[in-house]
Amino acid sequence: MSVKHILNFKNWSAQELRQLLDLAIKVKNNQPQYWNALDHLTLGMLFQKTSTRTRVSFEVAMTQLGGHSIYLDWRSTNLVLAELKDEIRYLDRNVDAIMARVLTHEQVQEMADFSRVPVINGCDNKYHPTQALADFLTILEHKGRLEGVNLVYVGIHNNVANSLVEGGTKLGMKITTVTPEFNEPSRDQQLLDEAARTGLFETNDDLKAAVAKADVVYTDTWVDMEYFMDPKFEAEKKRRVEQMLPYQLNQSLLKDSKALIMHDMPIHPGYEIDRWAIESPNSIIFDQAENRLHAEKAVLLTQLGKAD
Ligand code: CP
Repeated sequence: MSVKHILNFKNWSAQELRQLLDLAIKVKNNQPQYWNALDHLTLGMLFQKTSTRTRVSFEVAMTQLGGHSIYLDWRSTNLVLAELKDEIRYLDRNVDAIMARVLTHEQVQEMADFSRVPVINGCDNKYHPTQALADFLTILEHKGRLEGVNLVYVGIHNNVANSLVEGGTKLGMKITTVTPEFNEPSRDQQLLDEAARTGLFETNDDLKAAVAKADVVYTDTWVDMEYFMDPKFEAEKKRRVEQMLPYQLNQSLLKDSKALIMHDMPIHPGYEIDRWAIESPNSIIFDQAENRLHAEKAVLLTQLGKAD
């Protein structure tokens, strides 16, 4: 089917990504102009995992754009009984777009394969494209540009890191990852190889050297959110915390740095970041979280053919 989805940034050019960011800024600065832009349109929001920001930002975006959203908790739908492709082929006959947070990329790909309406990936095990768009928007606002901005991602290489690497290099940013651990289910070697070929992506083992050159430092949880409270994951959580504590974003690391501090939230203070860094004047974490709303609006307007 020829519908364009946002599953990751593979089929999105630099120009298209930049258009999304420019639209987000325009909508953010001219909100009343868009109050009826999605009149009578409905977004189906399907969640197989917990969420605060992704749910709130998409739901509020639909409301503020004059449309409607339906929250579907996977476990309370017949997705627990039926085949995904059949449920999607029903859903797309009622809603105008589908946003889904699911466990695996294969699931969101299957939705896209069978949906006649745009599918937006609200985070899977490999990618988190709408988070990265909000991140790029926030950096653009604070730095006035993306080209040449040096973002250093510190922590475990995961789905968020993939989307920052993929989108950031397309947009001309320099992305360095300092990631002593790699979350293997998120590995997309082709994405990493393509990013490396741009000359804008590298990995670095030397945290202090990488941070010294950073315009932006970024971290994320060390434990996938669905495992964070799971007693069965306790041993692995302990191992990861011991391995990763030297890579915490904290006062000792950042006291002499002018780099902006980012985190996609939810935050685990005392693990990947300390309270000092969260509250630092260089922290733009809450601007970043707010920008999920403005970025989602640009995504929805574009995917629903109302960008003009
Ligand atoms: N960053 C992010 O996706 O937040 P939620 O998990 O709360 O949606």
